[in-house]
Parts: sequence; structure tokens; C-alpha cells
Amino acid sequence: MPHDATPPLGATRRRLLATALFGGAAVVAAPRIAWGQALPHAARIEQLIAAMTIEEKAGQLNLLNDPFRFRPQSVNPTDGEGDPARVAAEIRAGRIGNLFNGVGAETGREIQRIAVEESRLKIPLLFAADIIHGLFTVFPVPLAEASSWDTDLAYRTARAAAVEGAASAIHQTYAPMVDVGRDQRWGRVVEGAGEDVLLNNLMSVARTRGFQGERGLADPQALLATPKHIAAYGAAEAGLDYNTVDMSEAQLKEVYLPPFKAAFEAGALSTMSAFNDINGIPATGNEWLLTELLRGEWGFEGFVVSDYTSEQELIAHGFAADGRDAARIALLAGVDMSMVSGLYLEHIPDLVASGDVPMAVVDRAVRRVLSVKAALGLFDDPYRGTSVERERREVGTAEHYALAREAGRRSVVMLKNDGGLLPLPKSGKRIALIGPFGPSLDVFGPWTIWGDESKRVSVEQGFREAMTDPSLLTVVEGSGVEEALDGGIEAAVAAARAADIVVLALGESQGMSAEAQSRADIVVPPPQQALAEAVAATGKPVVVLLRNGRALELSGAVRDAPAILVTWFLGSEMGRSVADIVFGDHAPDGRLPVSFPQLSGQQPFYYSRKTTGRPASSRDEGYKAQFREVGHAPLYPFGHGLTYGAVTYGAPSVGGGVLPWDGSLEVSVQVTNTGRRAASEVVQLYIRDRVATMTQPRQLLKDFKRIEIAPGATETVRFTLRREQLLFVGRDLEWTVEPGEFDLWLAPSAEVGEPVRFRLER
Ligand code: BGC
Repeated sequence: MPHDATPPLGATRRRLLATALFGGAAVVAAPRIAWGQALPHAARIEQLIAAMTIEEKAGQLNLLNDPFRFRPQSVNPTDGEGDPARVAAEIRAGRIGNLFNGVGAETGREIQRIAVEESRLKIPLLFAADIIHGLFTVFPVPLAEASSWDTDLAYRTARAAAVEGAASAIHQTYAPMVDVGRDQRWGRVVEGAGEDVLLNNLMSVARTRGFQGERGLADPQALLATPKHIAAYGAAEAGLDYNTVDMSEAQLKEVYLPPFKAAFEAGALSTMSAFNDINGIPATGNEWLLTELLRGEWGFEGFVVSDYTSEQELIAHGFAADGRDAARIALLAGVDMSMVSGLYLEHIPDLVASGDVPMAVVDRAVRRVLSVKAALGLFDDPYRGTSVERERREVGTAEHYALAREAGRRSVVMLKNDGGLLPLPKSGKRIALIGPFGPSLDVFGPWTIWGDESKRVSVEQGFREAMTDPSLLTVVEGSGVEEALDGGIEAAVAAARAADIVVLALGESQGMSAEAQSRADIVVPPPQQALAEAVAATGKPVVVLLRNGRALELSGAVRDAPAILVTWFLGSEMGRSVADIVFGDHAPDGRLPVSFPQLSGQQPFYYSRKTTGRPASSRDEGYKAQFREVGHAPLYPFGHGLTYGAVTYGAPSVGGGVLPWDGSLEVSVQVTNTGRRAASEVVQLYIRDRVATMTQPRQLLKDFKRIEIAPGATETVRFTLRREQLLFVGRDLEWTVEPGEFDLWLAPSAEVGEPVRFRLER
């Protein structure tokens, strides 16, 4: 078995667990529900609702941390505090309908047995987990994977994660995270697809489909997807996690909501309400957001779960007076399930008795939760995913590890390769691998609670396996991640001097890019920067391998190194994926999903910013929208990424230059590989609406295509443009499009190339 999902427990815990699971309070007489009869689910659910006490209803809306199953690390404030015996008793009493962040088939079966055999109404439990980028097998962090610009890849890794989760008695994943991330100080940029709306939409759909699969939620290998955190959580002021969000409704609709809508259209049947407030109303108490828009306009039929105690946090927001008030506000706003706080269970009976919450609102929430349980097939097979044999077969397979390696190398972005320093030779050169991330096993990235740690591959190991003569490799840490090491720099400099080539493995630890890990200064930590300066001073050629969960400000010897690879957190096979690229078995072909700024102080910085009335220009002029220190341009733009081939672009062609209102316009560009290796190129189509009744972004990605070009070959890459691609949210907050002139770029990234012009004519 590749990974023991429910590893041995200590004796005390085992006893506790046994009492909890089997200690069996007397089973209360159950009413006669039509189990076993072929009633359509909707009718069964109505029968159930009619039979439920108000406590049992509240129980179905109550979600707690799983205290039964092994969780190698805690990921939330009160995680690990649950008492198995108490929780088991509550399940028996019908006061808990859902558990999360416990994984494992065997114990999953036992817990489910309590619900379906010992509780009065025998309603199965829903098991959820944060399966963000893999379960036992860990795939690249979502931001890394977004660098592939490959939705099929995102689909396949989500599918593999779902197969592992579903085989370990999980029904729902709290993913994908579809929050657009435009401020790199925010620690959770790492969990999403970056700054662009189109890329976020596509990844949102691919991941939702990947988690849920193609055969319906009742399929034993499906996981219910939970696009989160609705809404605008990524727009936290100053990139400070949990911070307030104040933005126009037009921006909300244009930028932050589309990836959610896309996920729902792809079939996601749950979503998670965010921690933040939006325009003065916390998302978790926001009736406009969770009911009017989500249900009314979008027709969402699944359930909304609060984020970890976010309904309780309405009190700290100063939006609810106490727990009772918080439960009332969240329920009425449309939050169906309460995560961890227990406030629904505690207050719903009284809220209904007093008339503060109509029974119909409670029934509505219960109906939604039960309907999703039914859609997952839980009423027909409550024990889905609890076969130990299947779990053994389906998690951590060789196929999943091969996919992790492939996804890893597809996620690497080459920012720079002066003089063709990369790829490195596998033999004949002495390589010094310097920096904390050479031997480091910090390869997973955040939200990898159950990742199989015995299977992590460091960069050092990847290099050793790839090199023909590994004795030519010297490995020196030189520095800790955030603290200097005694004698570290001296040892590193000596190793650099004795080598032909230096590879500097620098950046952030996984703990630095995660929830609640906002950074005011998004730099390579100073001790590592000092290491880089000292090593570069030896004059040896330097390749930088950046480990990061966000775009970073690069400076000094790091910025000036002749070759830089962004390697993010690539998961289980990280070292091998990196070696595949560094030693040239595969060419890098990733593209940045976030702009790399020149200075932290530019944040939030994204390519689709507004022009302003005084756009910065490349000329050194005063009175422009630019900073004294750096102007206002990226160091590396969104979409940038080099490969081992060398690709040049011709001028885009827009045919007659007219896009008829109900027609289409063919646009094309010639792309030539002038290098000696085959090139995989992502040709990107950007537009700018030159004059509109609302100010428009200076560029917006509207389409892209990946093509393979043989050395010396020229390919013509064509796109078809339609009016629907030019929509924006107008003054009346409706999507609209106006005739007129547009700029168009067909380019290797944002912020480069000359545009051509076309007209949209009515
Ligand atoms: C995070 C969510 C996560 C939840 C459950 C919260 O702190 O914001 O993304 O799904 O915890 O672990």
C-alpha cells in the first residue's frame, strides 16, 4: 500500500475511537421512511423533512472537523480539538450531518455506520476535505499548474485527486479555489489561477469537471466540487488575508464573479462563502450575493457552506450582535451549512420557535443539503468509498506519480536564459547546487494535509538521478529560508569556486505562501539574497531556481542571473520535474499566470490595469502614473515564458479589419522558430477597447493557442474573433458591447508587441 490512509493510532486514541464508534447509545425508534422503495429522491427528501425534528434539521446543516480520522497536520485554528466520543454521540442523535478533513476508507465506514444504522433517520453523513492539489499524490500548486495554460492537464490532475479522495471515503472537496489574485502580497494567490479572468475561468471549469468527473456525482470516483470563496476574497485590501474589500459592482461582476459562474455552469453543486466583507456587507451575511445573485440570477441549486467559522466572525465584523444573531443573519442570507462554529445547531431551534427565522428557510437549506447528498448517491450507497481494497488500489498509483511529474515540468516557467546557459549538460561539468531548496523536501506547497511525505523528491535527488556522473554534484545549503546559517555563505562560495556552474535554489518555504501568510515585502528573504550576492560574486555562471507561491520582486544577483526558472511548489515529484527541464530532457513551456513586478510597492500589479488619464510611457516624463523608482511596468509580464527554441513573431493580420456585429473576424500571426530545438509556444490574443462608455483595461486576454513549431519552421496561427469576446459590464451593470475601434495583439505575453486595429461594426 503506497500510503496508509489511516495509520496506526496510539492506544488511548484507539480506545477513545472504539468507544466513540461502537459505544452505541440506544437507538431511538425511527419513523417509517420509505427507504428501499423506489421513491424519486425529491419525494424521499420531502418525506424526510416532514419527519425531522428541528434539532435534526439543524444537525444536517452542521459541519464539524472529523475527530476520528488521522490528520497529520492541523490546518485551521481549532483543528484537532474535537472529541470522538462526543461527536459520535452527536451523530447518533442526528445533531451532526457532515464532517470534514478526515480521510480513510476503513474508519470512514465506521463513522458512516453510526449515521446510517444508529441515528433515528439514518441520513448518511457527507464527508468533505480540502483536496486542493492532490491527496496522497501531490500535484503542483494550482498557481503553478495554471502556468501550463493547459486545461486538459488541470482536468487530469483534478481527476486523479478525486479518484484518490473518493477511494478514501471523501465525497466533497473544498476546491477549486477560483479567487482571482491580483495582489501578490496575498498568501493565497498560490491556490488559484492567478490574475487573469479568462485563465481563471478556464481553470475553474477544468478543475470542477476534473473533480466531478463525467459520469455524474453518484459515480464512485466523483468528488463534489466547491468553488470558493464567494466572493472577491482575493481582492483583500493591501493583499492582507481576511481584509476588507470595497469595489464597484461592475468590477465584481467583470473580474471576481465569472470564475464562480463558470464553475456552476460546469456543474459544481456547492460553494463556500468567503471571510471578507464586500462593500460593507460580509460575504457570509450577504443576501444579495448568496441568494439574489447566486440563486435568483444564476440558478444555482447546490448548497452554500460557510468558511471556517465565518458566520461566527460576523460578530467580529461588527455585523452581528452575538452567536444567535450571526446564525440568523447567515441563514437568512443563504448560507445553508455552518462550518465548525456549531451556531446553527445551537440556535436554529430557538430562532425558528421565536419566529426570527421561518421554518421554510431552514427547510430550504436542509433540502439543498439532502439533495446534494442524494445526487452523490449517498442514500443509495452510503458506504461509497469505504472499501479498503479499493483505497489500496487507487491511491498513490504509479500512474498518478507519473502525472505529478508531467504536471510538474509543465508548470515550470523560464523567465530568462541568457547565452543559452540552460539546459545544463548531464556530464562533464561540476555543478554546485546552492541554497536552502536544493536538499529541501519542502516541495508540496500549502494544503497538502495527507501528501505522502515518504515520496517527496528534492531537487538534489532529481539532479542526482538525472546526472550521468552524480559525483560532479556538490550540494550546499548556504542559508536557511529566513535565517542565515553559520558559515553558510563561506561554504557556498567555496563550492561555487570549485564548480563550473552554480544552481541557486532560493525562494519561499511552503509556509510562507498560504492562508494567513500575507507578505508586506514580496522579496527573496534577505539571508538568501545575501547568499546569492556572495555566490554571484565568484563570477561563475548562475542558474536561479525560484521556489515560490506568488510572483516575487527579484533584485540584485537573483534578478541579474543569466538563467531563471520559476519552479513554484511542484508537489511529490518536484525534483524530477525540475531536473527534466534543467538537463533538457524536456523544454520549459510554462507561461506566467501572474505579473512579476519590479518592486513590491507596485502591488496590486496586473497587466489588465486601467490606462489612467496619464499613462506611464517608456520615455522619462513627469506627471505620469508611475513610481519614481521603477516607472510602472513589470519585470516579467503576465504570459511570459521562454523555451529552448527561439520564437519570433510577425505582425498580426486582421484581414479586412472589420468585425461585423453578428459575424466574425479571422486574425492571424506568423510565428517562427529560429532556434535549434522544437518549440512549444502559447500564442496570446489580447484586445483593448479604445473608446467605451466605461474606462477599459489597457489589455485583456481573449484567447490563446498552444502550438508546436519545428526548428526553422514558420506556423500561421489563426483565431476567430466574435462580438461576445468584447463584452464588458456597462453602467447599468449588464454585460454590453459597443461598436468602435479595438487594438489587438497576437503576442508571446502581455505588455509586448505592437497592436493592430480593427472595428466592430453594427
Ligand atoms: C479556508 C478554506 C478551507 C477551510 C477548511 C479555511 O480556513 O479559508 O479554504 O476550505 O478552512 O479547511
